[in-house]
Amino acid sequence: MLKREDNERLVRVGPGTVGGEFMRRYWQPAVLSSELPEPDGPPVRVRLLAEDLIAFRDTAGTVALVDAYCPHRRAPLFYGRNEECGLRCVYHGWKFDRAGNCVDMPSEPPGTPLQAKVKLRAYPTCERGGVVWTYMGPEDKRPPEPDFEWLRAPPTHQFVSKTFEHCNYLQAMEGGLDTAHSSFLHDNRLGDTVALRSRDRAPRIAVEPTDYGYRYSSTRSADEANEYVRVYHFVMPNQQIRAMTTAPSGERAEVPKIDGHVWVPIDDEHCWVYNWAYGYDENAPLTPAFIEAIETFAGRGPDDLIPGTFKLKRNLENDFMIDRELQKTSTYTGITGLNTQDMALQEGMGPIVDRSREFLGSSDRAIVTMRRLMLEAIRAVEAGDAPRGVNPEVARDIRAHDGYVPRGGDWHTLFADELKARW
Ligand code: FES
Ligand SMILES: [Fe+2]
Repeated sequence: MLKREDNERLVRVGPGTVGGEFMRRYWQPAVLSSELPEPDGPPVRVRLLAEDLIAFRDTAGTVALVDAYCPHRRAPLFYGRNEECGLRCVYHGWKFDRAGNCVDMPSEPPGTPLQAKVKLRAYPTCERGGVVWTYMGPEDKRPPEPDFEWLRAPPTHQFVSKTFEHCNYLQAMEGGLDTAHSSFLHDNRLGDTVALRSRDRAPRIAVEPTDYGYRYSSTRSADEANEYVRVYHFVMPNQQIRAMTTAPSGERAEVPKIDGHVWVPIDDEHCWVYNWAYGYDENAPLTPAFIEAIETFAGRGPDDLIPGTFKLKRNLENDFMIDRELQKTSTYTGITGLNTQDMALQEGMGPIVDRSREFLGSSDRAIVTMRRLMLEAIRAVEAGDAPRGVNPEVARDIRAHDGYVPRGGDWHTLFADELKARW
């Protein structure tokens, strides 16, 4: 449970809110690189932290992220002409470069002093791992660029997609940090007791705060000799990292991979979920067929999206196409798609969950700790200090892992090497 005022501090992300100022202190994913495939291509609408923006790739190939409205009379720059290192408003022809300078003002007399005065709001960007990142906070507090291991993996071993989610980012992220639900919500083979996460449905959860957020483990009984341990990371302020490297037998998976999500607030009631994965076995790249299979399993394969959007066909409006017969006979939810199941629950809570009405249990430890760290970081920003995890250096070398640990063994030592980044 959370006090109502604390809930408000966490979920509101617009300019001027304490939660919004906090989120603006970190680099955030703005668009996928693939949404802006070529220089001088069509601009793309971006709503981020409740600000309406436009992204365009200029002639030099650099992505600009600017106010969606022209500073002259607020015309929509979405219709602008992307030409010769700038975006030209099609209302009266004013043109702006990626830094927001007005570089042409053809509707005014030549040499007008107005041109130097007019600025279009522009945010810095950098491109890494197939994602265009932006920093929307105060310039003097801008941290170095993001440097997670997934951004350094070679393109043959790396993948990223995104999905639209109709709820506040925090409840979506809480779904990601909540490891206990996987034995229930994601039980797609009712009655199968072999699946690792069905063998023990009440994992022991331990949380260890770090400089970047925390590391947490879930331990389940696997067989008489072993426990199955998953070690995850929560990286401030909105990322989770987990591993899928172990097959149910306890052997290494054929394509061991590490995945994660970044939950990026569009505004208070919507978010983008960036879904990334990378393989770490040099001999086991993520092939297009493998990627399509995992995306389809997650519920966002090529046939699952409304064409031309990042929205699922199975969505809140159609109750995620729940199949009650399937629910009776074979899967826990009757909803197809692993992450679609997550979304059904997260969106179904309403756009902003009222955390003052919850009853939390021991399986919610990771969520409770996340909220505490986030509130602490918001207070730090209010006090003029740097929030936890703002320097990418602190999360540069982390990696998640999962595997068998002989009973009585300590994963800290047994997994020590596996928990270090190698790309
Ligand atoms: S509104 Fe953009 S140039 Fe006039
Ligand atoms: Fe889930």
